Amino acid sequence: MAILEKHKVLEKNATLLLVASFAVVTVGGIVEIAPLFYLENTIEEVEGVRPYSPLELTGREIYIREGCYVCHSQMIRPMRDEVERYGHYSLAAESMYDHPFQWGSKRTGPDLARVGGRYSDEWHVDHFTNPQSVVPESVMPKYAFLKRTPVDGEYIGELMATHRMVGVPYTDEMIEMAKADFSVQVDPFGDIDGLLERYPGAQVRNFDGEEGISEMDALIAYMQMLGTLVDFSTFEAAESR
Ligand code: HEC
Repeated sequence: MAILEKHKVLEKNATLLLVASFAVVTVGGIVEIAPLFYLENTIEEVEGVRPYSPLELTGREIYIREGCYVCHSQMIRPMRDEVERYGHYSLAAESMYDHPFQWGSKRTGPDLARVGGRYSDEWHVDHFTNPQSVVPESVMPKYAFLKRTPVDGEYIGELMATHRMVGVPYTDEMIEMAKADFSVQVDPFGDIDGLLERYPGAQVRNFDGEEGISEMDALIAYMQMLGTLVDFSTFEAAESR
């Protein structure tokens, strides 16, 4: 009981208790934080994850501009109800090239982290044009103007260069070819080899079914790739360290 007797001294002296508590918390804090300074990267790299193609990145800009994040999250939490509804829980690596990230916590509509491939392009066109035409009780606003609004990717190279400044590994070649890659992604008859080499798995087609490149094309290209880069039939989480 000697140790308890000694502890009594601490417990009966508020100042001493405060100082001792502070010392304990400091040691604990250092043990947790110090190793992080020596790690290059705290995000486990995952095969398949790549930076956005110019057209996808444009779609993502439209997503942010229109405030879609106000009603939609992009992070599937690792809980059973989430995983059964939306698919494999989100990995940190899947949003490592997102600046700013779109995780969110408000879900007026469903989570979109794995919406890619869930619906056809035509469904998305109908839904964005008039959500109530496919989901009568929907409170989502109409975005019909996206189809009428052309987009030419004039500044997409500059945007990619900006993303590179915050750590997205866009190469000089990617930035140089940005405008060409932007246009060729909606042209299945175009010369797409370079695009697919730079952005493996990029989906190439006329997303909105109309001639020319519209904001609708860009937004649907973005929707259709969300959550599709990692092949979860072969993915294995690393051993926890
Ligand atoms: C006012 C809230 C609100 C805003 C803003 C909003 N949505 Fe929605 N969204 C919803 C709701 C509610 C649903 C579910 C009903 C439906 O499908 O329309 C939905 C459904 C969706 C779906 C179908 C998801 C699924 O798995 O069924 C997609 C895709 C989508 N929204 C994309 C967007 C995009 C992109 C934007 C921005 C251009 C946007 N939403 C803006 C509320 C919103």
